Amino acid sequence: MSKYILAIETSCDETAASIIKDGTEIISNVVSSQIDSHKRFGGVVPEIASRHHVEQMTIVIEECLTQAGMEPADLAAVAVTEGPGLVGALLIGINAAKAFAFAHGLPLVPVHHIAGHIYANALVQPMEFPLLALVVSGGHTELVYMKEHGSFELIGETRDDAAGEAYDKVARVLNLPYPGGPHIDRLAYEAEEAVPFPRVWLEEDSYDFSFSGLKSAVINYKHNMDQRGEEIIPAHVAKGFQDSVVEVLTAKTVRAAREYGVKQVIAAGGVSANKGLRNALESAFIEEDIPFFVPPLKLCTDNAAMIGAAGFFMYEAGVRGDMKMNGKPGMELKTWIE
Ligand code: KG4
Ligand code: ZN
Repeated sequence: MSKYILAIETSCDETAASIIKDGTEIISNVVSSQIDSHKRFGGVVPEIASRHHVEQMTIVIEECLTQAGMEPADLAAVAVTEGPGLVGALLIGINAAKAFAFAHGLPLVPVHHIAGHIYANALVQPMEFPLLALVVSGGHTELVYMKEHGSFELIGETRDDAAGEAYDKVARVLNLPYPGGPHIDRLAYEAEEAVPFPRVWLEEDSYDFSFSGLKSAVINYKHNMDQRGEEIIPAHVAKGFQDSVVEVLTAKTVRAAREYGVKQVIAAGGVSANKGLRNALESAFIEEDIPFFVPPLKLCTDNAAMIGAAGFFMYEAGVRGDMKMNGKPGMELKTWIE
């Protein structure tokens, strides 16, 4: 019999709920974005995020059930993002999940936000192991090796800024609205020339990343131009920055895929919505003859469908939360198959 999971995600600035069938099929997927409320501050304001989640949470869950044409009795479990994220924001989703689970006698499944991003791919095609995931979001930049469902080995990560964070900071230098990633992506796509910026490779055998030097190079370039009284061309800066990020992310992902001999490579997280990155990874893995997948744009940025996908596989593996569950802002990505 098919199993339906209600999933809830409130780790940052999207209040989201979704119903997922058997971890692979979206029955309903509702995302209420707060971006407009945070835009004027140039970033997410935690207190405002929590307030929005409180206002939206019940409406979003009800909408999600209505769109699916389902009753709580049709569900097998409630999955919810336990961390990482903003603690006040996480707690709204966790408490809603607890209340819903308690009221309807359903088990709770606590999900790691990044596991969710990775499992967005299960909604697109079956995951095949061993697998390599490039996770690029606002808070994370990681290469994750998975030998089976629920097994995560971190083989590389950023030593400073996450890729999305670098995008958002550079966008600010270019006076682009928050979140800056999509704007830089668009400008870079239109540009014919690129300002040359460095590539940060770190040690030869390292799968780690570093983006703060690149961010500083962009800031320095802007200062130098300002001092000389010259105007920068934002599109050329955007392309220079993006070319550097994409080249390093792609090269390290290809090298890791070869070394670990994976059957599949996937990209995940908000920055995997980036056109330049998607194109570069797609062509690189055609060349390597390794299947590469990236979810459609709306499943790359934060949503609850991905939490429902990961939640299903965790539910099947017997992972359960309880009424003592708490938000874990710094939660680590750990295996769930012990
Ligand atoms: O995964 P996500 O929605 O939230 C986190 O878990 O952090 O990622 C948000 C990040 C932001 O930094 C945003 O600027 C970036 O993803 N982003 C992009 C694009 N779309 C969103 N970065 C580059 N190109 C894009 N098209
Ligand atoms: Zn995310």
